[in-house]
Amino acid sequence: MAKKDPNAIGFAVVGLGMGRHHCRSIQAAQGAELVAICDIDAARREKAAAEYGCRAYASVDELLRDGDVDVVNVAVPTGLHAEVGIKVAQSGRHIICEKPLDVNLEKADALVSAARDHGVKLAAIFQRRLHPLSKRIKEVVDTGRLGRMHYGDIHLYWYRTQDYYAGGNPPGWRGTFALDGGGACMNQGIHSIDLLSWIMGGVETVYAKTGTYTHDVEAEDVGTVLVTFKNGALGNITCTTAAYPGLTNDMHLFGQDGSIVVTDDRVVTWRIVRADGDQDAELNEEREMQTLYGGTTTSGASDPMAVGFDGHTIHVEDMVRAIKENRHPIIAGEDARHAVEICVAIQQSATTGKEIRIADLAGGR
Ligand SMILES: NC(=O)c1ccc[n+]([C@@H]2O[C@H](COP(=O)([O-])OP(=O)(O)OC[C@H]3O[C@@H](n4cnc5c(N)ncnc54)[C@H](O)[C@@H]3O)[C@@H](O)[C@H]2O)c1
Repeated sequence: MAKKDPNAIGFAVVGLGMGRHHCRSIQAAQGAELVAICDIDAARREKAAAEYGCRAYASVDELLRDGDVDVVNVAVPTGLHAEVGIKVAQSGRHIICEKPLDVNLEKADALVSAARDHGVKLAAIFQRRLHPLSKRIKEVVDTGRLGRMHYGDIHLYWYRTQDYYAGGNPPGWRGTFALDGGGACMNQGIHSIDLLSWIMGGVETVYAKTGTYTHDVEAEDVGTVLVTFKNGALGNITCTTAAYPGLTNDMHLFGQDGSIVVTDDRVVTWRIVRADGDQDAELNEEREMQTLYGGTTTSGASDPMAVGFDGHTIHVEDMVRAIKENRHPIIAGEDARHAVEICVAIQQSATTGKEIRIADLAGGR
């Protein structure tokens, strides 16, 4: 079965849990063609091959012998990302890697280095950064419209059942340190942690407490963290999968000249002081932002597959253009590393009872 469009970039997906979103996003993307899928689970593999009309492989080694594959989307359990991604890099194929890069800095760095050494592109999935509202907020902070920032937080009040933790393949991998790298922070919270850190310009120190309260799972189902950002502002990160039945995902940003509050990617508050003191214009801007970003949104509050795949489609189309223009992807491996650093530091702080400076982490920069 040759490629339908000889000019399309050929994509393959490894791991067919969240990987099914990758399949849909590739089929929806301009300039991309899904040529193959790969999974060790025969039932998932056969179902996906029939649904998406592509070739199916039982191992990554077999997949990488397929000459139509230019890019491999890696959506296996997190602790296997580097192992699979490094094989892909060695074969000269580009990589789109699900979040987080891997479970620790050593493995994340090995993946980033392999991509660099083999001259392939490594894109990291952090689809929330690509949301138009996220980009507007980043622009407002970067251009100084909020003035000097003094506070930023994210509060992820989600819910996952015990069946969720018992499921997946290998069964029970979620919430383990070896395969998930942690719990509510590293798995569910990392999108929001990455977003907050990206907007605020990076995290300097964390002081964390974590606990496991309502699940039979190795890592935390509640984590709460005091943060100092590199820009000197203070903040807070709270992530839980024990907030029944799955509540909100909030972000608060306060600067000298204004405040932004977002819940589930919807604008709640957008108050930015105008240089000319025009309060009507200030209120009009808030109304405009609430109208633009106030509708219903999909949320993973109680179901991970409910997040939708639009963000993944943007990542796929960006990879197509990055290959054609020979540039870095929109979120390259190096850009996704800091989120892993923050989560590793949170675990270290919770274990030692000490504030952790990210620059002092083993493997830190
Ligand atoms: N971006 C997002 O919003 C989002 C949401 C959920 C999960 N994820 C990420 O996606 C990844 C997968 O999570 P999931 O919940 O889909 O897990 P899952 O357990 O449901 O699916 C993983 C799949 O990988 C397959 N697999 C395991 N080892 C393999 C191997 N060596 N070769 C080929 N296939 C293999 C399994 O059979 C399974 O079908 C994780 O890194 C997770 O953090 C991202």
